[in-house]
Amino acid sequence: MASLTIRKLDDAIRDELRLRAARNGRSVEDEVRVILREAAHYPSPIPATPPAVLQAPSADRGPRAIHSLPRVTLIIGGGIAAYKALDLIRRLKERQIHVRCVLTRAAQQFVTPLSASALSNERAYTDLFDAASEFDAGHIRLGRDCDLIVVAPATADLMAKMAQGHADDLASAILLAANRPILLAPAMNPLMWNNAATRRNVAQLERDGIAMIGPNAGEMAEANEAGVGRMAEPTEIAAAAEKFLRPPQPRPLAGKRVLITAGPTHEPIDPVRYIANRSSGKQGFAIAAAAQAAGADVILVSGPVDLDDPAGVTVKHVESARDMLAQVEASLPVDIAIFAAAVADWRVDNAGEQKLKKTSAGMPPLQLVENPDILATISKLREKRPPLVIGFAAETEHLIDNAKAKFARKGCDWIVANDVSPATGVMGGDRNTVHLLTRDGGEIAVDSWPVMSKEQVATELVARIARTVEKTS
Ligand code: C5P
Repeated sequence: MASLTIRKLDDAIRDELRLRAARNGRSVEDEVRVILREAAHYPSPIPATPPAVLQAPSADRGPRAIHSLPRVTLIIGGGIAAYKALDLIRRLKERQIHVRCVLTRAAQQFVTPLSASALSNERAYTDLFDAASEFDAGHIRLGRDCDLIVVAPATADLMAKMAQGHADDLASAILLAANRPILLAPAMNPLMWNNAATRRNVAQLERDGIAMIGPNAGEMAEANEAGVGRMAEPTEIAAAAEKFLRPPQPRPLAGKRVLITAGPTHEPIDPVRYIANRSSGKQGFAIAAAAQAAGADVILVSGPVDLDDPAGVTVKHVESARDMLAQVEASLPVDIAIFAAAVADWRVDNAGEQKLKKTSAGMPPLQLVENPDILATISKLREKRPPLVIGFAAETEHLIDNAKAKFARKGCDWIVANDVSPATGVMGGDRNTVHLLTRDGGEIAVDSWPVMSKEQVATELVARIARTVEKTS
C-alpha cells in the first residue's frame, strides 16, 4: 500500500488542502482521509479530473469558485448584544450568505460555539492555536477565505485592539491578517462609546477604512441607562453586509415604464382546442428580467408559456391576441414598448361554443379572420404612443429583406430580426442570433449581433435602449 507524504505534494495542492482543512476544522491528515473516503465512494472508474478543491488555484480563483454563495466570517464579540449575533446568522443565511463564526473568549460567556455552529451549519472557531489543526495559526485564514468580515457585537475592547493592531487571540489575529473588507457593529454602554479613548479608536478605525453600522440610540441592558450604544438590529447589519457583497447595480432605466409582450397566443377552435405556435416566450421573459434589473417598472403581457414569472415584474397572463391587445392598451402609457410575442395572425371566426364533433358530414369548416396587429396598432396611436416602440421579425427566409418590409408596414422605431427556421433551434431554444434594425436618417441601419444566449440578447438590447433613452432625455 502506497504511503503519502503531504509535505511532498505540489505547493498549490498543499495550499488548497490546508485551506479546505481549515475550512472544515480538520487536520490536513484528516482532510486527506475524508477526500480518500469520498473518492472510494465514487462510481468506478475514478474520474480523471480530481475534485475541484484539489485543482491548482488560478490567479482569479477566489473562494467563490468553490462555494458560489458570498461568504461572511462573523466575529462575535463579548457583550450582552452577542445573543443578537445568533439572529444575525439567520438573517445573513436568509439572504443566501454563507456564514462562519468566530467567538471571542468573552463572547462565550453569552453564547455558545454550539449554538453558533448549529445556526450556521459550520464549525464555530474559538482558538488561535487549535490542536485539531495541523498547521498553527491556520485559522487566521478565516479573514481571507471569505468576502467580508462582520464583527457583531464589536465591543470597546475589540475595537481598541483593532485600532492598536493587537493579535493575541483568534478574533484579533483574523482582523489583523485580513485582506477583506471589515464591517463593525459596535455595541457598548453609552459612556464607553463616548469615552475619549473609544472616540480615538473609532476615528482611527475609520481612517483605516473599516466600515461601521450603528450603534443606535436606545435603552441599554443596564437598568435605567439609555443613549447611543445599542447594537444595530440584525436586519440592519445583514442589509449593510449585503451591500458589500452584492453592490447595487446601475439602474439606467429607473423611473421608466416598460411594456413587453411575450409568448404565443392561443386562438380557440372550440372550448378544448386551439391554434398555437411554437414560441416559448423565453426571449420576451429574458427582456423583462433584464429591464427590471436595469431599474425599469416592467409590465409583461404574456401568452400561455411554461415559464416562471420574472421576479419584480408585473405579469398579465392572457390567452388570445385580442386579450393581449386589451391588456397592452390598458397598460399604456409607457416609455418603451417591446413586442416580442408571437401573436397568431389569424383566429377562428366561427369557434364552436361546444366541443366540435366528428360527423359523417366531414371536417368542420374553420373560417379564419385576421387578428388585430398589436404592434402596428400601438405604433400608429396618436395619443399615448410610447416614445420607443420595438418589434420583432421572426423569419424563416429572406430575413433582412422581410424585416425591412415589416419595419415600414408596422411603423415601429426598431425591429429585432431573427432567423427562426427549424435548423437554427431558436424557437424554444436558449440561443438567438439577432439583427437590430434602426432608422438612421432616411436609411435603415442593420446591426448584426453574434450568436448569444437569449439572456445576453436581452441584456444587450436593454443596454442599447438605456443608451438611447439617456441620449434623448
Ligand atoms: O407580422 P409579424 O407577425 O411577422 O410581426 C411580428 C411583430 O409584430 C412582432 O413584434 C409581434 O409581436 C408583432 N405582432 C403583433 N400582433 C400581431 C402580429 C404580430 O403585435 N397580430
